[in-house]
Amino acid sequence: MSQNPQNIQSVLNETRSFVPSLKATSSVPDMATYEALCAEAVRDEQGFWARLGRENLDWHKPFTQTLDESNAPFYRWYGDGLLNASYNCLDRHVLAGRGDVTAIISESDSGVVTRVTYAELLARVCQMANVLKSLGVQKSDRVIIYMPMSIEGIVAMQACARIGATHSVVFGGFSAKAIHERVIDAGAVLIITADAQTRGGKQLGLKLVVDEALALGGCDTVRHVLVNQRTEQGCDMVVGRDLALEPLLAQQSTDCVPEWVDAEHPLFVLYTSGSTGTPKGVQHSTGGYLMWATQTMKWSFDITAQDVFWCTADIGWITGHTYVCYGPLSCGATQLVFEGIPTYPDASRFWQMIERHRCSIFYTAPTAIRSLIKAADMDEQVHPKKYDLSSLRILGTVGEPINPEAWMWYHKQVGGERCPIMDTFWQTETGGHVITPLPAATPLTPGSCTLPLPGIQAAIVDETGEDVENGQGGLLVIKRPWPSMIRTIWNNPERFKAGYYPEELGGRYYLAGDGAVRHSDTTYFQIMGRIDDVLNVSGHRLGTMEIESALVAHPMVAEAAVVGKPDEVSGEAICAFVVLKSAIPEGEAAVKLANELREWVKHEIGPIAKPKDIRFGDNLPKTRSGKIMRRLLRSIAKDEAITQDTSTLENPAILDQLRTSVV
Ligand code: PRX
Repeated sequence: MSQNPQNIQSVLNETRSFVPSLKATSSVPDMATYEALCAEAVRDEQGFWARLGRENLDWHKPFTQTLDESNAPFYRWYGDGLLNASYNCLDRHVLAGRGDVTAIISESDSGVVTRVTYAELLARVCQMANVLKSLGVQKSDRVIIYMPMSIEGIVAMQACARIGATHSVVFGGFSAKAIHERVIDAGAVLIITADAQTRGGKQLGLKLVVDEALALGGCDTVRHVLVNQRTEQGCDMVVGRDLALEPLLAQQSTDCVPEWVDAEHPLFVLYTSGSTGTPKGVQHSTGGYLMWATQTMKWSFDITAQDVFWCTADIGWITGHTYVCYGPLSCGATQLVFEGIPTYPDASRFWQMIERHRCSIFYTAPTAIRSLIKAADMDEQVHPKKYDLSSLRILGTVGEPINPEAWMWYHKQVGGERCPIMDTFWQTETGGHVITPLPAATPLTPGSCTLPLPGIQAAIVDETGEDVENGQGGLLVIKRPWPSMIRTIWNNPERFKAGYYPEELGGRYYLAGDGAVRHSDTTYFQIMGRIDDVLNVSGHRLGTMEIESALVAHPMVAEAAVVGKPDEVSGEAICAFVVLKSAIPEGEAAVKLANELREWVKHEIGPIAKPKDIRFGDNLPKTRSGKIMRRLLRSIAKDEAITQDTSTLENPAILDQLRTSVV
């Protein structure tokens, strides 16, 4: 485990507590209600989950079985029920007479605001679904979506759900190679993209990246590429393969009967990084996933018809799936969607948008908060106090630990000391929140995600699966299955079983991959970071191996090792140790090569994977058996004194060289 006792001590010493002052519109108005729900989930597990399944979703055919664990850990939830996710997100609100409610307020990079009601969104999703059907896309086919943060992106996802096709969204910042890998692994029949996206005043081509991906070869399953025209930029079109979306939409009816699928039908596959190999396709269900997306909107965010909800995550990540595309729409809420970036035209953009749209629930990542703190420190004009943020009532963070200073700033400067902060811990694999405070109930401690949601049996165990005492660090596990959990890894059930239900823990607990500790008094959970070789850079998950493979694919690189180091803004930064095939360059030449390698990684994976530090060495520190000593590399990356035992190191002289060679 990477955590050290000092770290545990410093976070456990946080004693500030903020008692909720929110008016309890919430279904969980106090801790007694929370505890009663937790007790219900333990006393009558099946009854509890069955109740939530019925309360949150409309079923075409009601389920009679709640949990089937006969083939654990391949759990089945609500297995004999039939439903449709898009029906639950759209039709049911329109049928209930709420078709005129605004579903999405979309703001473009340049500030153009577009609104769609539930009735309009339903019509657009139906047209899109009919386009997909006209191109022969069928239930269970996989569709890749490579789109900007936009109404069109959400429509594409919902249209897949409507016809029972499984979508796989690829984040718009990922490279051609990343698309290529996913197209092949998923066996996609169609790609939906746009000519370009506009972010920070710049137009970034998307379709040309898809062209490059398909040119890499082996994508024979792909029959068509649908292109949404968003800019004047346009793009090249391959005759027969590529189709302009808008003319096709115009020909289609605004009605489309939803395809009723069984609850276990894969709604989507979303690729995420693991510690080994290529990204894995996390497969989610329809029924259990959507139930939890809906329920957590109510519990964690207290969503009501009066709210304007804003989750700033991109649809390319799980947060954009659960808390942009599915959760808010399933609840019939009004949400804000933003194509741009928080610092354009300046770092007051978020505050301006909250003021302009009277946003009441704001959910973002600690990295964004930290960068906006920095900007506000430097320029009064972009400080949140300059804006009317009185509409806010609940704040949220996600994706990485929030340091107590950033938490306090968010609380005071953004939340005006009145808005509770939901520090939501969860993962691509958990489908929705698993450990988080509840806005009207949980006393808050800065930097802690507090307590598990009712029904989530989270615990901390040692390497043999035994519970550890509070105050002791260990592995975060979830002891019982829950409806929105990962079902399998697409094409790789063995990897799912070995990775998430390891034999060492008796094969019976879900292993989250994070270290954690519980506070001795409050029993609050504190996440200590990943225990595997997964980095968390600005809340984005990246495998060290992926970056290493990208580096060694460069013709000049012989070997590479990548570790994380703490970073003030991005939480963790990438530090790459590189051994070249030729002599190490010096001065300007070293800087030039390091920049070339950064560009290379950007091209291979995407800009988020660019190493911040690059250190050239004649070799890497290895044991006599040839294993790279990553612990040492972590210390060097942090510029820490080396306290570890280096007696097994084959080439100790290398340490000094790596220490001094940062570019
Ligand atoms: O290490 C944890 C961190 O993000 C990882 C999951 O990343 P991903 O699947 O990309 O999903 C991110 C959005 C849900 C976790 O294993 N993480 C997520 N939320 C928190 C967190 N670390 C600390 N505090 C959180 N609230």
